[in-house]
Amino acid sequence: MPSSKKTISLINDSLSSELSIKDASVGPSVVDLANLNKDTGLFTFDPSYSSTASCESKVTYIDGDEGILEYRGYPIEQLANKSTYLEVSYLLFNGELPKKEELSEFRHNVKHNMVLDSNLKQLFTGFLPNAHPMGMLMSSVAALSTIYHEDIDIRNPHHREAFFFNVLGKMPVLVATIFNQINGTKIGSYNEERSYAENILTLFFDGRGDYEINPVFSQALDILLVLHADHEQNCSTSSVRLTGSSGTNPYAAIAAGIAALWGPSHGGANEAVVRMLKEIGSPKNIPTYIEKAKDKSDPFKLMGFGHRVYKNFDPRATIIRGECHKVLGQLNQDNNPMFELALQLEEIALNDQYFVDRNLYPNVDFYSGVIYQAMGIPKEMFTVIFALARTVGWATHWCEMMENPALKIGRPRQLYLGSEKRDYISIDQR
Ligand code: CMC
Repeated sequence: MPSSKKTISLINDSLSSELSIKDASVGPSVVDLANLNKDTGLFTFDPSYSSTASCESKVTYIDGDEGILEYRGYPIEQLANKSTYLEVSYLLFNGELPKKEELSEFRHNVKHNMVLDSNLKQLFTGFLPNAHPMGMLMSSVAALSTIYHEDIDIRNPHHREAFFFNVLGKMPVLVATIFNQINGTKIGSYNEERSYAENILTLFFDGRGDYEINPVFSQALDILLVLHADHEQNCSTSSVRLTGSSGTNPYAAIAAGIAALWGPSHGGANEAVVRMLKEIGSPKNIPTYIEKAKDKSDPFKLMGFGHRVYKNFDPRATIIRGECHKVLGQLNQDNNPMFELALQLEEIALNDQYFVDRNLYPNVDFYSGVIYQAMGIPKEMFTVIFALARTVGWATHWCEMMENPALKIGRPRQLYLGSEKRDYISIDQR
């Protein structure tokens, strides 16, 4: 990490610590707290990590005030418009955009791993009919750790690369298997002639071999995958890093990321948005739900609104809103009731003082469900598709972390508020 000569002095009674300030290549500097406890006996307290940088990284940059998101320095708007998910995956993993032959080799390496072990297929027969697809995905990725464990040396870069391509290849097949299981349909076959996004639609919908790909759908899906590919140290990526820092099996670490993504404060929000819009039902009910969202005694929140980092706008939401118009226009559903409701809800919230004061804007999850629904994808699959896209981010961050020879296990401390020391009393004397 580049280091500046600046320091901050922290003085506590007679103890003091000179904390160095480390400069970022772009964006805010950080205060290095590594010596704070040694010098003063103090820990820092930041339970939701609102002021904490947990690691060094070169993958993704976000400026929340300006609504900027960049993968390896490339603005998300340019990548969404001009690139493809596989090219972005190459970029995230390797740090540079690929030449034609490099991309073709990358695609081959992903495709080569798109085969499921027959034992793994059996796992899917054990789930209850109403199993949630995220639970199925998490379990099946965790199950990959039962197949790939003895041969993985996580300190070996070749083994890490093999893991990267294997998890990237396995994920679309797992996701499509889950999709077809809950739909009671047969998985389609991968087609070399088709793009990555077209192949996802093929695996989902082409079990009978007669599915015609709508280019507006495949383009929208590709853009959604690009937008979800990485997002620096979010909850699920941090879960992958923290879990992985113990040296555990990397598939287990990815399963931890999927577990974190499932929550409605994170990736689960896309499913929750559609549930919420269904519950609101009609524009006439919007004011009631806006009041509920503002009422601190009511647990209801406006799903798809707000973000820990973006305090101006989420650049991904702007792109997705445009894609919604295209997809619905293609279906002659310009007046799609759910989209209309979402647009009106957004407008009312953006003009409400509560949301203005707190810088609450639609996030990436506000409109994505409308597109998925229009494509015929059930809402329980929305977060699963998010996980499919984010896998490249998780695997890239895990590899970046493992490259560090000085990596230590992540081990936060606490502010202890429990009982003081006391003596054990035998059960008949309590
Ligand atoms: N509806 C109503 N009030 C909200 C909302 C919301 N969606 N989001 C934040 N607030 C309020 C919050 O109650 C707090 O009010 P006050 O200052 O009066 O106590 C203020 O805004 C600041 O919120 P916060 O809870 O400190 O914000 P946070 O950074 O901890 O949480 C968030 C961020 C995304 C979890 C939260 O905004 C939220 O729960 N949003 C709804 C769920 C959602 O859409 N999640 C997807 C996030 S983007 C995709 C992803 O990460 O995967």
